[in-house]
Amino acid sequence: MKSSLTILCLFVSLSISAFASDPDMLQDICVADLTSAVKVNGFVCKESSKVNATDFFYDGLASPGATNNTMGSLVKAANVEKIPGLNTLGVSLSRVDYAPGGLNPPHTHPRATEIVFVLEGEIEVGFITTANVLISKTIKKGEVFVFPRGLVHFQKNNGDKPAAALAAFNSQFPGTQQMAAALFASTPTVPDHVLTKAFQVGTKEVEKIKSRLAPKP
Ligand code: GLV
Ligand code: MN
Repeated sequence: MKSSLTILCLFVSLSISAFASDPDMLQDICVADLTSAVKVNGFVCKESSKVNATDFFYDGLASPGATNNTMGSLVKAANVEKIPGLNTLGVSLSRVDYAPGGLNPPHTHPRATEIVFVLEGEIEVGFITTANVLISKTIKKGEVFVFPRGLVHFQKNNGDKPAAALAAFNSQFPGTQQMAAALFASTPTVPDHVLTKAFQVGTKEVEKIKSRLAPKP
């Protein structure tokens, strides 16, 4: 009795971890009908007679993204919104370009683990565990680093030349939540009294950060 209970517990915990990423597919393909008003957990499938190779193709990562912005970095995503054929397949890619000094600021992906491969240059990468430990390293062209699902992570190009990386995700739509933007530039904004207490600073400091991060009209 005791041993069957142990096996049952083990089975339940294994099933839970097996479902910790996008659900498995139930057919060969289910090309997303991005125009459909009906949403399921993912997208409804397009009529199969209308499916062709372009549904599985995207050339948007062929060229570097423009990095002349405040952070000096740009992420180009190749997810289900760009490649409808990814619907139900549980994978996607991004290309990240970094100007010298460029930062991909601290963010999380609620639905995916990320693995980055450096295409060019050298980047400092890191993630913070829920025990508040920073795991970080500088990686160069050809090297790989992993950011576990849901953990806050960043990349910075400390060099004097541009850098680029390819990021792969075990989700068709990993989602990205930028830490600074979520806390200081949401709509409506998080109240100052929450942020002053959380960050142990005054209203002036909070307002300053909010004004810097406010979306440009
Ligand atoms: C990099 O961290 C990315 O999310 O593209
Ligand atoms: Mn990321």
